[in-house]
Amino acid sequence: MSMNLVLMGLPGAGKGTQAQKIVEDFDIPHISTGDIFRAAMKNGTPMGKEAKKYIDKGELVPDEVTNGIVEERLANDDTKDGFMLDGFPRNLVQANALNKMLENKGRRLDAVINIHVEPDVLVDRLSGRFICKNCGATYHKLYNQPKVEGTCDVCGHHEFFQRDDDKPETVKNRLDVNIKLNTPLVDFYEKQGILHQIDGEQDINRVYQDVKQVLENLTK
Ligand code: AP5
Repeated sequence: MSMNLVLMGLPGAGKGTQAQKIVEDFDIPHISTGDIFRAAMKNGTPMGKEAKKYIDKGELVPDEVTNGIVEERLANDDTKDGFMLDGFPRNLVQANALNKMLENKGRRLDAVINIHVEPDVLVDRLSGRFICKNCGATYHKLYNQPKVEGTCDVCGHHEFFQRDDDKPETVKNRLDVNIKLNTPLVDFYEKQGILHQIDGEQDINRVYQDVKQVLENLTK
């Protein structure tokens, strides 16, 4: 059976952290719109320059840009047996566009996993996050430290950075923008009967046990 998945949740809910674990256990391409935008910004492409204007303010990149990127990525052959979208869709325009993209290929979403965390926990999660400069693995100064201090568990690299949009002045707007959009999206997928709610306030490995259970049930 195919696994066409969406991983959703507010900024800092743990989408990237769980995606990192999912790809270790399941052979599925991880498509993060945030990662695609950050790579384009780093390379200074026209799309990256356009995205930066919004990301720096904690706003969403316009739907037509984002939808186009996802459509192009889903046309890639590696998604034919499944994919995991992380951070897309974020609103109903994107959700409807995704359904159309899939319908045109005779496909549909199999599951949407919403990692639920109350907003008041998220500022703390985002302000303590640090990321490996080499491979992008995500850590937290209190909740998710590397096994050996100063060394990335995944690639052994020693340099880390904080995302510009994790600075306090951007975090508040990012959260406000996304909180407004999250509930209608949750309702949309609940009505379609494909929504799985996961408690994202548990320990990272407990969250993963719940996520894994959903994915194993899908592949049975
Ligand atoms: P994106 O990169 O997708 O950012 P986001 O949605 O804000 O989500 P984050 O990556 O910040 O959080 P996460 O849920 O992955 O949390 P993480 O696992 O790192 O998007 C960035 C920007 O790009 C957007 O603001 C927007 O401008 C643009 N964009 C992207 N997609 C778009 C779209 N579809 N449309 C328009 N614009 C778009 O965890 C966070 C921290 O918490 C880490 O330090 C981690 O170690 C820790 N942690 C994780 N789980 C736990 C736990 N269970 N307990 C304790 N700590 C935990």
